[in-house]
Amino acid sequence: MNTTERGSFSGKLGYILTVAGSAVGLGNIWRFPYLAAKYGGGIFLLVYIILAVTFGYTLVLAETALGRKTGKSAIAAFGDLNKKSKGMGFINAIIPIFIVPYYCVIGGWVLKYFSVYMTGGAMKAAEDTYFTGYVSNVSEPIVWTVVFIAASLLFVFLGVKGIEKASKFAMPILAVLSLIIAIYSVTRPGSLEGLKFYLIPNFNNFSFMTIVAALGQMFYSLSIAMGILFAYGSYMNKKIDMESSIKQIEIFDIGIAFIAGLMIIPAVFSFSGGDPAALNAGPGLMFVTLPKVFASMKLGGVIGGTFFVLVFFAALTSAISLMEASIAFFMDGFKLSRKASCAIMACITLVIAVPCSLGFGLWDGVTLLGMGILDFFDFMTNSILMPIAALLTCIFIAKVVGVKTIVEEVKCSGEFKREKLFTITITYLAPAFLLIILVSSILSAMGFIKM
Ligand code: PFF
Repeated sequence: MNTTERGSFSGKLGYILTVAGSAVGLGNIWRFPYLAAKYGGGIFLLVYIILAVTFGYTLVLAETALGRKTGKSAIAAFGDLNKKSKGMGFINAIIPIFIVPYYCVIGGWVLKYFSVYMTGGAMKAAEDTYFTGYVSNVSEPIVWTVVFIAASLLFVFLGVKGIEKASKFAMPILAVLSLIIAIYSVTRPGSLEGLKFYLIPNFNNFSFMTIVAALGQMFYSLSIAMGILFAYGSYMNKKIDMESSIKQIEIFDIGIAFIAGLMIIPAVFSFSGGDPAALNAGPGLMFVTLPKVFASMKLGGVIGGTFFVLVFFAALTSAISLMEASIAFFMDGFKLSRKASCAIMACITLVIAVPCSLGFGLWDGVTLLGMGILDFFDFMTNSILMPIAALLTCIFIAKVVGVKTIVEEVKCSGEFKREKLFTITITYLAPAFLLIILVSSILSAMGFIKM
């Protein structure tokens, strides 16, 4: 089948909305703010934006172009262009398998908070010990995680498409609601300090981890190195202007993350005095901070409930596309049926998700390479596997298929203004940078260097 026939995105807007809808998820709303709070505020924001518009842009474009050129998913695309490189698709395809489980744990937290708001628990959720009390519980977080896994798998298994239409409504509403909450947050007494912390880069807060964390976040948020962009590219019509579509998707993705940071970080200063422990809250930050914001608002219960149901939609659609990518690994790679692939994925997800959830309670003291269990999976996927996959993609393009192939693919549908920048980045800058970060991350995780 050639790509024009395969193309189901005939219009640019449809393409942009669909890819942006998949890219915007927990990564923007839950993950970005806690990393920004933990790794330096304004300096993290600056490093993140620089990475996203340079390396991020280059990698998104490269993966999309490879997908459109071959009309195939990641597993098949590499082999299609060069038989010996077939295995490279596998590494892209394996990554979502390890992300899905912990994504579902956070999805379960979102569901729980939604249920709390629906049952009039807005004040209870704002108490200092509520979040830690909840996650240290053994069974309840696991039950909500299982509900979230079941919901996502059901959509994947049945191949129900309606959810995507629902998310096209939910996403813009979530963006507007987040903006309203952000405006409310930044106008609270005491939040100015937080606003300064978030917006003004302070080089004293910079550490090597700022780069490592920002790079991992860039992969995660833009759905790079997960086989996803290949798949969307393979459905992209040859006439759609690739460079400008990708620019708009990036603006959207960075914009939502930026607003989520505005919603949460100044509120940490306003409601918790900006003390370092609160800023270092990690994965719990959104769940600890936002309920305090809602509790201080008129109609906070309704706003909180609406917020969590919208985040649930964002998380569900992302989990569905992550699961689709994961089962494609078994279907395309091992020629298994959809049913068998879903069953395998259900087992893997449960086996990894349960320890991730227990890591916040019963298995609190368990560490892997010095990290909690959920953080370990997060680190391994975003800071180790994704840079490896991206590095291999750069080498593949520069040494095997040739940068010209990608450039021609981009140019067949429009201008390529940043052609020079793309060529230099994919050939020299990105591989060198990824290699340095990768080696440092590995050495640091093994305890050989301190970052
Ligand atoms: N980019 C999504 C987020 O930021 O939450 C995560 C993601 C969703 C990655 C869907 C990949 C994907 F297919």
